[in-house]
Amino acid sequence: MKALIVYGTRYGTAAGIAEEIGKVIENQGIEVDLVDSRGTKNYDIFPYDMVIVGSGIKIGKWTKGSLKFLENNKSTLSDKKVALFVTCGAANMEKTMAEGQEKYLDEMALKYLSNKPVATGLFGSVYDPNANQGLMYKLATKFIIKKGLDKQGIDTSKRLDYRDWDDIRAWALNLANMLK
Ligand SMILES: Cc1cc2nc3c(=O)[nH]c(=O)nc-3n(C[C@H](O)[C@H](O)[C@H](O)COP(=O)(O)O)c2cc1C
Repeated sequence: MKALIVYGTRYGTAAGIAEEIGKVIENQGIEVDLVDSRGTKNYDIFPYDMVIVGSGIKIGKWTKGSLKFLENNKSTLSDKKVALFVTCGAANMEKTMAEGQEKYLDEMALKYLSNKPVATGLFGSVYDPNANQGLMYKLATKFIIKKGLDKQGIDTSKRLDYRDWDDIRAWALNLANMLK
């Protein structure tokens, strides 16, 4: 059995999640290839039993690379087990989770997949007020994300990692079990 993980990332968060998913599946004796979606033009997905596609979200959007991958492989993906995951700010708070699930996963599955995905994963993000990730990141962190956290009385002076690694590992293990 062979699984392909394709991730799109702007700030590294989805890459970290994809790596962890890969480790869990590999530990179950399944061969895994992990690929940045930017390098997947003409990628041959035929040999894989399962394809896991993920992305970070920026202003409501998946990365171009992951979108292109889904578009380019639509017909081949219809014969495979496909799982989708995202990492986004909406996953960090109970009250925005349902919206994140709908907009970034369910609507994407309807638009890009012929069949229902075998699983979808909505995973938290990282808040880092001191990260050197460019102007857009700085502005979004300072004026949008920080404000939301401040409202909840959360200390925003240091880095916060909302990725629930146990949840991510359990999600990956469930996928591995589907390949046994
Ligand atoms: C400029 C910017 C825009 C963002 N827009 C959204 C958004 O529209 N919805 C959301 O839920 N999270 C949003 N986020 C949070 C990111 O989705 C989150 O940080 C994610 O983990 C990034 O993944 P990546 O590091 O793999 O690119 C935004 C973050 C930044 C810096």
